[in-house]
Amino acid sequence: MKKLVWIAGGAVLIYICLVLAIAVIPAIELSKVPAGPDVVPLTPLQAQGRAVFAANGCDYCHTQQVRPLNEDKVFGRPSAPGDFAYQTPELLGSERTGPDLTNVGNAKPSDVWQYMHLYDPRSVVPESIMPNFKFLFRVLATVPPGETAVPIPAPFAPKDGKVIPTPQAKALVAYLLALKQTPIPGYKMSGATSAATPATPAAAAPATAATPTAAAPAAAGGYAYDAAKGEALFTPHCAVCHQATGAGVPGAFPPLKGNAAVDNADPTLHIHTVLYGAQGVTIGGVAYPGAMPPFAGQLSDADVANIVNYERSSWGNQAKPVTPVEVAAVRAKGK
Ligand code: HEC
Ligand code: HEC
Repeated sequence: MKKLVWIAGGAVLIYICLVLAIAVIPAIELSKVPAGPDVVPLTPLQAQGRAVFAANGCDYCHTQQVRPLNEDKVFGRPSAPGDFAYQTPELLGSERTGPDLTNVGNAKPSDVWQYMHLYDPRSVVPESIMPNFKFLFRVLATVPPGETAVPIPAPFAPKDGKVIPTPQAKALVAYLLALKQTPIPGYKMSGATSAATPATPAAAAPATAATPTAAAPAAAGGYAYDAAKGEALFTPHCAVCHQATGAGVPGAFPPLKGNAAVDNADPTLHIHTVLYGAQGVTIGGVAYPGAMPPFAGQLSDADVANIVNYERSSWGNQAKPVTPVEVAAVRAKGK
């Protein structure tokens, strides 16, 4: 009998020691990690959105952890412990059926886009396999005072009525827009400046500049427009809103095909819009509800030139190409 007590007691003791060593003590240690620079607690609305995120299983398909690997560079810098100071229990996720969302507030900063995408992902990403979350919206005959209808394009919109986000949808989108990585002073990401070219170090650029391209080279400081690069940059950064066809989404995102700012001999407004974004501009007689996000912080002058030139020479547009020097000049003038 005594022996049995020793065996059982010893086993329990070993169990308690293991739990302390691998769970309790590390958790206490981790909870002492200070918040990263500029990491702020969620607002009550954003915290409510986080609960909606968890309740709807968004983390079954989406991670919130950027690994220090090359293939994760598209999502941002590697995650650091201080990033999660106010986000416990962490929604790290283990499956990436969809992209990592750590930095989605920077990558997709438009609430209009987020609402459209939640209502029906196909309305903005034609090839998307993400399920729709229509139950987070109400369809009403008229827009109630103080509410704004989501501009869902006709093929995806309900036959009649306006699509109005529910309080859960509003909280969820507030949370998504709050998912932004903050820079860590002194940390610099090696390699690419942009999502589309993670494997191409900047040092490889002179080699491409020497290669003749199909499009007319805008020779300036060794720069030649590279149509493939332009398309590779346009697709992740711009096509989600303006669409691969350049046709935009009626009522939500303006067309770039035949756009007066794009198909224009003077590229200033075009470059300025890409660098510094825009809001409330009436384009082709239409006022758009959302904002065009600024890209000055994430795209180099050469990247902007390649994107701008892609737009100026696609879908029937025939404006003269620009150079990184012209982009730099607009950048220098500031917003
Ligand atoms: C069954 C898997 C799945 C579930 C569940 C899911 N998603 Fe997605 N999600 C995807 C896929 C695939 C994509 C990429 C295609 C696209 O953009 O629609 C995506 C894309 C996204 C994007 C755009 C990210 C980017 O950087 O382009 C956001 C934002 C997003 N999802 C939010 C959510 C939210 C919020 C939920 C929960 C309400 C959710 N997702 C649930 C699969 C899923
Ligand atoms: C989140 C959605 C979104 C993304 C991503 C986006 N845009 Fe826009 N864009 C808009 C909206 C909305 C407007 C209209 C802004 C307004 O009404 O002032 C716009 C306007 C424009 C205009 C028209 C300017 C004018 O005065 O006619 C150009 C050019 C443009 N975007 C280029 C780009 C390029 C290039 C990219 C990628 C680097 C891009 N956009 C990415 C939403 C987006």
